[in-house]
Amino acid sequence: MSNHFTLDGVTVPFTTGQTIMDAALKAGIYIPHLCHNPEFKPHGSCRLCTVNVNGRNVAACTTPAAEGLEIENETHEITTQRRLLLKLLFVEGNHVCPACEKSGACQLQAVAYHCGMLAPEFVHFYPKRAVDASHPETIIDFNRCILCELCVRASHDIDKKSVFTISGRGIHSHLTINSPSGKLGDSDFTASDKAARVCPVGAILPKHKGYNKPIGKRLYDQAPISQVGDVAQHQEATDE
Ligand code: SF4
Ligand code: FES
Repeated sequence: MSNHFTLDGVTVPFTTGQTIMDAALKAGIYIPHLCHNPEFKPHGSCRLCTVNVNGRNVAACTTPAAEGLEIENETHEITTQRRLLLKLLFVEGNHVCPACEKSGACQLQAVAYHCGMLAPEFVHFYPKRAVDASHPETIIDFNRCILCELCVRASHDIDKKSVFTISGRGIHSHLTINSPSGKLGDSDFTASDKAARVCPVGAILPKHKGYNKPIGKRLYDQAPISQVGDVAQHQEATDE
């Protein structure tokens, strides 16, 4: 049986077991998100999908849909909060978009455009993180990792390898590779792994394919993320 809630005044149907995010995406309504990917169990860590439900802020990706909910998504207040979260993400890593191969096909960049982020507001951390180029087919730039754990979940749940882990806590959280040397080339990761194709930013990239598609012709150069959705759903874009 189908029930309904309202999202920014629009009636959205849902079926039992769906989250607010599931139902909204199914109805073609975009709720900004980074750690969510419909192929995986919701994680609820980035908080970018926070919506207001009957006066209370909740994560759309983990909150079950329920009959009669009145949900706000694109209000001035919520968008301002999302911009704040995005600005924090941009200063926490080294996101040098013009020099990134993922520019134009990066979910972080595209969501930032969607939320109207125009300039940084906070002092950059400029963390010093080494790039791991030890694998013959894949490179990892930890500077761009936003700790969404999609590669962790893909490697564990689908590849059955657990190549990736998040170590540390709070501001010291970081992505680590489960191999004797801590290097990707020393793990059993392969370029055909699901984990190689889920990164929403330019942290996990294929080697030997740089700039296959010119900047200006990439996924989010053609249409905004609210129309085309997640980069991981566009296989060709994950190789750009
Ligand atoms: Fe997410 Fe990519 Fe970082 Fe993995 S490497 S946690 S997929 S941002
Ligand atoms: Fe919901 Fe990240 S998408 S918390």
